[in-house]
Amino acid sequence: MKINFPSNFLWGTATSSYQIEGAANIDGKGKSIWDTFAHTPGNIKNNENADVAADHYRLFKDDVRLMAEINMHAYRFSIAWTRIFPEGRGTVNQKGLDFYSKLIDELLKNNIKPLVTLYHWDLPQKLQDKGGWLNRDTAKIFSDYAETFTKKFSDKIDFISTFNEPAVFSIHGNVDGYMAPGIKNKDIYLASLHHINLAHGYAIQSMRSIRKDLELGCVLNLGPCVPCSDSEEDINATNIYDMYWNRAFLNPMYKGYYPSALENELKKYIFSNDIKNIYQKCDYIGLNHYQHSRVKADKNHLLGARGAYYNEKPFGLSNDVELTSMGWEVVPEAYYDQIMELKNLYDDPIIYLTENGCAYLDKIENDGKVYDNKRVEYYKKYLSAVKKAIDDGANIKGYMVWSLMDNFEWALGFDKRFGLIHIDFYTLKRTPKNSYFFYKDLINNNGF
Ligand code: FCB
Repeated sequence: MKINFPSNFLWGTATSSYQIEGAANIDGKGKSIWDTFAHTPGNIKNNENADVAADHYRLFKDDVRLMAEINMHAYRFSIAWTRIFPEGRGTVNQKGLDFYSKLIDELLKNNIKPLVTLYHWDLPQKLQDKGGWLNRDTAKIFSDYAETFTKKFSDKIDFISTFNEPAVFSIHGNVDGYMAPGIKNKDIYLASLHHINLAHGYAIQSMRSIRKDLELGCVLNLGPCVPCSDSEEDINATNIYDMYWNRAFLNPMYKGYYPSALENELKKYIFSNDIKNIYQKCDYIGLNHYQHSRVKADKNHLLGARGAYYNEKPFGLSNDVELTSMGWEVVPEAYYDQIMELKNLYDDPIIYLTENGCAYLDKIENDGKVYDNKRVEYYKKYLSAVKKAIDDGANIKGYMVWSLMDNFEWALGFDKRFGLIHIDFYTLKRTPKNSYFFYKDLINNNGF
């Protein structure tokens, strides 16, 4: 059976600055919290860091060529704040602007639509030194950065997202401590959560005032939460976790209120007008989805509820469930359910599927090829779920594969390969995998 997608459906791929660019100390770039975190022994598997990564900073033309060769329509990438403002604010670093200028021009020359994310986790270290997201001032400083970027590029770019996955970086960075800035403190987490929401709202306002018809929104990692057992504790924990993981940003940004239990916890951080400032008209929801969360009650965890850590298997798993090499479950039904939940509970929004993908232990065989056929199977399953949601009325405009190329997978280093393109991290050689050619056919047929 052939699966067809609507005409004008946007097919693309996604990456982020810290995970691919490298050039960590070049052309005036300042340090981000991920530079600091990755250089602290013990934080990253094998003590790796992304100083070089895929060296996209130098090799971006090769990478755009690989996108163009399969007629990709869109490319979602993030801006390293510290290339533009090495200290987070103050003097602009012209060379940083020049890099993104060259990248954007190269994309446009090849008919690839740039989808920009302003913040994919790499907060300037200088701002962290002043408290980072704990500090309310960071919200305004972020909005100034958004304004500077947008003023410079609004004649070339139509689509900007404020944040990538605020729930992920605020929980794993401030509660679990296994992502930058490596903190375990519930108060810092709560204050950060609110200030990130505020930063989103301020930035949407400042960007909108530059160009009214920009497509603006936020990218959120969402997934259904399921209890890992039928005990009362785990069922209660599931509701708590759903609040922190799925609603803490989605609700204030897209509905104009916090869940009431969360609002209570945030009382001392919410000033008058904050909610009004956060709740700005957005043009889309960016949905990143990998799996549903199996939640358990955990008295030793600061939130009392959690999903599996990055080095654990999902809780309460039955044996017949397929896992990727991240230990993540392959459950396309959860993708469908998540999309339909947005449609049904969040006013039938325009949805961009901004990340979805899988890691496997890919390697180059003697014939020079990468037979990542499991990844192809994964995409077929997940895209069938997308198609079903479209048939059931979901307003989905596009789909971005995570990821264009293998990259630095945060605390797990270079071991987890998500790319359509294999990267040899010693020679930096790019080798398209089987899934790249699958994606090529899919784009050219608008289906598979
Ligand atoms: C998402 C992140 C992205 C990448 C994928 C695997 O949560 O946004 O940077 O690490 O997971």
